[in-house]
Amino acid sequence: MSANALAINDFAALDDEACDARIRAAKEKLGKDLVILGHHYQREEVFHHADFSGDSLKLSRQAAESGAKYIVFCGVHFMAEVADILSGPDQVAILPDLAAGCSMADMANLAKVERAWRELATVIDPDEAVTPVTYINSAADLKSFCGRHGGIVCTSSNAQRVLEWSFSQREKVLFFPDQHLGRNTGYGMGIPLDEMVEWDFDQPMGGLTEEQIRRARIILWKGFCSVHQMFRPEHIDAFKARYPDAKIISHPEASFEVCQKSDYVGSTEYIIKTIAEAEPNTRWLVGTELNLVNRLHEQHKAEGKDVHFMSPTVCMCSTMFRIDPQHLAWILENLVEGKVVNRVQVPEDEAEHARVALNRMLEVSA
Ligand code: 13P
Ligand code: SF4
Repeated sequence: MSANALAINDFAALDDEACDARIRAAKEKLGKDLVILGHHYQREEVFHHADFSGDSLKLSRQAAESGAKYIVFCGVHFMAEVADILSGPDQVAILPDLAAGCSMADMANLAKVERAWRELATVIDPDEAVTPVTYINSAADLKSFCGRHGGIVCTSSNAQRVLEWSFSQREKVLFFPDQHLGRNTGYGMGIPLDEMVEWDFDQPMGGLTEEQIRRARIILWKGFCSVHQMFRPEHIDAFKARYPDAKIISHPEASFEVCQKSDYVGSTEYIIKTIAEAEPNTRWLVGTELNLVNRLHEQHKAEGKDVHFMSPTVCMCSTMFRIDPQHLAWILENLVEGKVVNRVQVPEDEAEHARVALNRMLEVSA
C-alpha cells in the first residue's frame, strides 16, 4: 500500500448509509477515470454502485473495452485478474477486498495441473491429444498454462462453443476446475457419461486406469462450487409437488442430477434474461446464488412472477459477500487522493499466455 493511504479501519465502523454517500461523492470526483464492474452475485448495497453489471463473460468483455484508468471489480479475485490481463498497460484493476477469492478456483493449482499433464503423458501424448480448458473461475497461471498448451478459457455462457472449438483442435479435453460445468455441457453435446471421467487430483493418475484415460473424451477435474452443490434434486421434487406448473432454472455449476431435472440451464446472465422474458404470473425455482435470486424476486414481483431460491438453507457465496460498502468507499476515497490500494496485477510473463487463452475464448464466443 502507498505511504499515507487511508486505512480500512477508518471505514470499518461506518454504516452502510454513510458509505453510500461517500461512494457517490468519490465516484463523482473520479468521473471518467473510474469504472465499477459488478457481478450479479454482489450484495445490493454494492451492486447498485456498479456502472456495468454482468456475468463473467460480459464483465470480461467490459473490462477489455473500458478505457477507464481504474477498473474496480466488485466480484472475486479471478475476475479482477481477468480485468488486469485484458485491459491496457496503463489501466489499473482493483479488488475492494483481496480476500474475496473463489473456493472452486482454489481447487486447481498449477502444480497439480502440471502433474496431471505429466501423468497423462505416461499414457497418451497430451500435447497431441488433449485440449486443456479452464473455466474462467481459475487463477491466472492456469489460464497461462492453457495459453501455452493450445488451450482456452470458458465461462458458463460459452462452454459449449468452447468445447466444440476444443474438439476441433484435439480429440480429448482436460476440463478444470469445475466437474459439473464440464459434465453438464459435455452431456448436452451428446457425450455419454462413461466417456467423461473424473480426475481426482489427490490420487496418482487421477485415480484412473490407462483404459479409462484412453477411452475418455473429457477428463473432468474433481472441483465443484460449494454454493451450487447445495442444490439437490429433492428440492426440485418437493417444489414441483407443491407447484406442478413451476419452471425450474439452474446454473450449470449445479450437479448433473439437478440440471437434468431443470427446465432451463445457463449462466447468471441467461437466468436473468429467461425470467425477464417469461410470461407474467409464472412461478420459478432458481438454482443459483441467493443475492441474485432475491434481486430477481424483487424485480419481477410486480408482474406476478414468483421467484424462489432452490435450497431450504440460506447459502450465499461468502467470498462475493466480502465486498462491502466499507471496502468500496475505502478504495474509492484512496483513488480520489491519488492512492491505489488493492491493485490486482498479473505478472506480464503469465499474463501474456493467459491473454492468448482468453482471446481465443472471446473470438470463439463472439
Ligand atoms: P457466471 O459466469 O454465470 O456469472 O458465473 C460465475 C460464477 O462464479 C458462478 O458461480
Ligand atoms: Fe466461486 Fe461458487 Fe462463489 Fe461462484 S458462487 S464465485 S464458483 S464459490
